[in-house]
Amino acid sequence: MRSTSLQRVKVLLLWLDARLCSSRLPWSGRLVLQGPGVLVGTLRPHFPAPYQLLTLDYLWLDSNTGGLYTTERRLDREELCPEETRVDGCIIPHTAIVGADADLVQFSLIVEDINDNAPHFENTEIHLSLSEDVIIGAAFLLDDLAQDRDIGSNGLIHYIIEGSDGVFDVDAEDGGGIKLVVKAALDRETRAEYNTSLVAKDGGSPSFTAAAALRITVTDVNDNCPSFSPDSRQNVTISGDSPKNTLVAQVKATDPDFGTNSVITYDFSPKDMVLKVLAHGPHCSPADTQVTVSVLPRAKQEPTIKMGFIARHENQALMIPENEPSTLLAVLELEAEQGLEELSLDIEGEGPFALSRQRGTYLLSTSTPLDYEQKTEHNITVCVLRSDRGSVITASARVIRVVVTDVNDNAPIFPVSVYETEVEENNPPGRLLQVTASDADSQDNGRVTYRLGQHTDRMFNIDPYTGQLFVSVSLDREQQTLHIIRVTAQDNGVPLLETTVTVRIRVLDKNDNAPVFVMPHFIFFVPENTPVLAPVGALGATDADEGENGTIVLYVANSSGPFVIPNSKNTLHTTASLDREQQDHFEFWVIASDQGAPKRLSSSVRITVYIEDINDNKPKVMLPVSNLTCLTVAPDTSAGTTIARVYAVDRDTGLNSELTYTILNQSGPFKVDSKTGNITLAQRLQRPDLRMHNLFVVVSDRGKPAPLHTAVWVNLFVNDSLETCHLDCEPQEPPWPSPTTSESVGCPASPAANSPNPFDVMQSRKKTFVNRNENEVPLKLQDKYYSDE
Ligand SMILES: *[C@@H]1O[C@H](CO)[C@@H](O)[C@H](O)[C@H]1NC(C)=O
Ligand SMILES: *[C@@H]1O[C@H](CO)[C@@H](O)[C@H](O)[C@H]1NC(C)=O
Ligand SMILES: *[C@@H]1O[C@H](CO)[C@@H](O)[C@H](O)[C@H]1NC(C)=O
Ligand SMILES: *[C@@H]1O[C@H](CO)[C@@H](O)[C@H](O)[C@H]1NC(C)=O
Ligand SMILES: *[C@@H]1O[C@H](CO)[C@@H](O)[C@H](O)[C@H]1NC(C)=O
Ligand SMILES: *[C@@H]1O[C@H](CO)[C@@H](O)[C@H](O)[C@H]1NC(C)=O
Ligand SMILES: *[C@@H]1O[C@H](CO)[C@@H](O)[C@H](O)[C@H]1NC(C)=O
Ligand SMILES: *[C@@H]1O[C@H](CO)[C@@H](O)[C@H](O)[C@H]1NC(C)=O
Ligand SMILES: *[C@@H]1O[C@H](CO)[C@@H](O)[C@H](O)[C@H]1NC(C)=O
Repeated sequence: MRSTSLQRVKVLLLWLDARLCSSRLPWSGRLVLQGPGVLVGTLRPHFPAPYQLLTLDYLWLDSNTGGLYTTERRLDREELCPEETRVDGCIIPHTAIVGADADLVQFSLIVEDINDNAPHFENTEIHLSLSEDVIIGAAFLLDDLAQDRDIGSNGLIHYIIEGSDGVFDVDAEDGGGIKLVVKAALDRETRAEYNTSLVAKDGGSPSFTAAAALRITVTDVNDNCPSFSPDSRQNVTISGDSPKNTLVAQVKATDPDFGTNSVITYDFSPKDMVLKVLAHGPHCSPADTQVTVSVLPRAKQEPTIKMGFIARHENQALMIPENEPSTLLAVLELEAEQGLEELSLDIEGEGPFALSRQRGTYLLSTSTPLDYEQKTEHNITVCVLRSDRGSVITASARVIRVVVTDVNDNAPIFPVSVYETEVEENNPPGRLLQVTASDADSQDNGRVTYRLGQHTDRMFNIDPYTGQLFVSVSLDREQQTLHIIRVTAQDNGVPLLETTVTVRIRVLDKNDNAPVFVMPHFIFFVPENTPVLAPVGALGATDADEGENGTIVLYVANSSGPFVIPNSKNTLHTTASLDREQQDHFEFWVIASDQGAPKRLSSSVRITVYIEDINDNKPKVMLPVSNLTCLTVAPDTSAGTTIARVYAVDRDTGLNSELTYTILNQSGPFKVDSKTGNITLAQRLQRPDLRMHNLFVVVSDRGKPAPLHTAVWVNLFVNDSLETCHLDCEPQEPPWPSPTTSESVGCPASPAANSPNPFDVMQSRKKTFVNRNENEVPLKLQDKYYSDE
């Protein structure tokens, strides 16, 4: 809606009686409204007063007169009915109440269009390019049309073109489009651009217009030839001694066309050049003649080789993968102006290429597979042979470049099948060795990386790029002497190729382990009296090292004891006969030393040797002190009284020292307690008992295999005088070995040499302890034999 224009609304009223729907009373009228307060119609002729308008939007109703007036609110058809295209289609319904009965009436306000909108171009500048050789009458559809929001003739647009000096016109198309029509011949060289104006004018009255700049550019065609300007002819004089390449003259031709259409090349005319030649003689005027030189365009004499690629090529080079079977590379054709029949093509020199002739053309192919690793690039020289003369036309030779592309046809190769290295144990962690595989391929196909086998110990790792093998810890030969590692080298081609090699790492020994005894404390038992150099027991020790580092030598640390390890082997031997009664056990140390270098390692172990008892001691009678000892017994001594005691000791141990006492010629009233040696009175003394009783008491130990015995006389004098009794000689020994039947022998009978007594043998073997007191109490039983201290 144009705010500057005055409001002009034509209102057509259609009356409708709400009660009497059948009776339609059409009424029409045209009014030109000038702003608000303009009467557009009245309800009075048809309906009685009073009047009341229910819809107050655009009209005001005088309640007394029934007159309908415009209000301040403008009626804009384009706003109210934007989609409506029919002239009387914009209808706004209104409702009013009329008469005393308040009847409802409906009527419509029809808003008609007025030309209040100007045409409008979306683009205010339209560009168009036309070739200068378009024919007159050619028409070009214009896309950029103007729009007008009004309808009917108010919205109907008519176009004219201004400022084209009659060269262009516009023509309406069916369907609303417009065409630009060329009315006069165009010439870019005369006028390259038309700045015109496309004017759109609607059909309203008065009408509105809009304009867009229409710029028509005339493009060039090659419709002009080069020309020299008339004054380009020139006479030039140069000096006779002008050097070569002296500028003689410059000419300039022009071509009014544009761009490449105006490119000019200069050349001499092939027409004749006339040279005036003078002949001079002394004192003569020169004679002259004329030489006409005709310069022909250069004849194309040399044959040429035309080539068409068949195989893949880049930058004029054939790209051929290696290992391909015979491959067609290119087709060659010989071109010559004359004598083509006498010419042929051939490859110069040797190479894996072949040229075969087929119907006038030549096919170039490989004759054997190419090998990138041998040669990455070939230059094939194809030359032209003149068959009649057998000569090569070198000027026409053509070099064809063949680039061999690599294929991953080589796996990495290790120079050896097994890598071996030796490393001392306890080595500092770090590099062990380097493996290197070569791959004859190039680029990724030859880029080798290394990796360790899947089950390789974690302590080993390899640099994937350099192949350097590292160990992250110190190696211990005693744990593992030989490490076998698999290293795989792979290239990065497609498909991947790989090779695996074995690396053997031998760990060399160091003397890092001392000998170890199999037990922390060795305890041995040796029977006493064993012969000298008898074996005592085996000593076990081990050393985890190898060779001399693990060779063990054993020796007794302190030489005081009677023990030795002959030849430093494993067995302990005695160096003397041992007497338990003298020393029942020995404590000493044995040292195990390896023979390693630079330093021998050793360890020591405690040895305890217990001397086992042998029944080599007879019981020794301590009481009575002598065979002549005598005790007086009162005759009235009551039965059961302990009268005397035989006390003996045995230096052996165990059963060897357990003693029993017996009276060999048991007949009197006295008896001996077998365990204690107590002598008691068994019954009351009778008269016949009043005399001297010599009891032959035998003390026996319980040693095995044979017990040892000692005998002693117990002399008891039964007399009521209570005199100190005295014996002058030993009584006679009763007969052995049946003491129960023996008779007592009276004093002073001298001791008779009896039949051989088995105990005398033992007695004769009895050792004597020279450095020992006879009365010394012997060693006690050593219960600790069975404890581990
Ligand atoms: C046409 O209009 C363009 C843009 O305003 C201007 O550059 C050009 O010189 C004009 N050409 C002519 C022939 O007036
Ligand atoms: C060049 O010299 C010739 C002969 O002297 C003369 O006829 C001609 O006019 C000269 N042309 C110019 C362009 O000076
Ligand atoms: C082939 O010719 C090219 C270009 O002249 C040259 O760079 C290349 O070295 C030659 N190759 C061989 C293998 O002769
Ligand atoms: C023993 O160990 C030393 C280093 O402690 C070493 O030099 C020597 O080679 C080793 N001997 C053997 C037989 O391995
Ligand atoms: C015996 O040797 C061991 C180990 O060398 C030592 O500890 C001990 O004192 C030595 N004993 C004697 C009595 O020399
Ligand atoms: C006591 O007599 C016995 C038996 O004749 C004899 O074996 C023993 O040696 C004698 N004792 C002493 C101390 O003389
Ligand atoms: C043996 O005699 C001693 C002293 O004469 C005495 O102390 C001891 O009790 C006696 N033993 C027995 C079992 O009678
Ligand atoms: C007791 O001893 C005395 C003195 O030696 C002796 O005279 C006497 O005859 C003895 N009595 C008996 C009954 O033997
Ligand atoms: C034991 O024998 C001796 C001498 O043979 C004798 O004097 C003594 O009276 C005897 N003793 C007994 C108790 O028979």
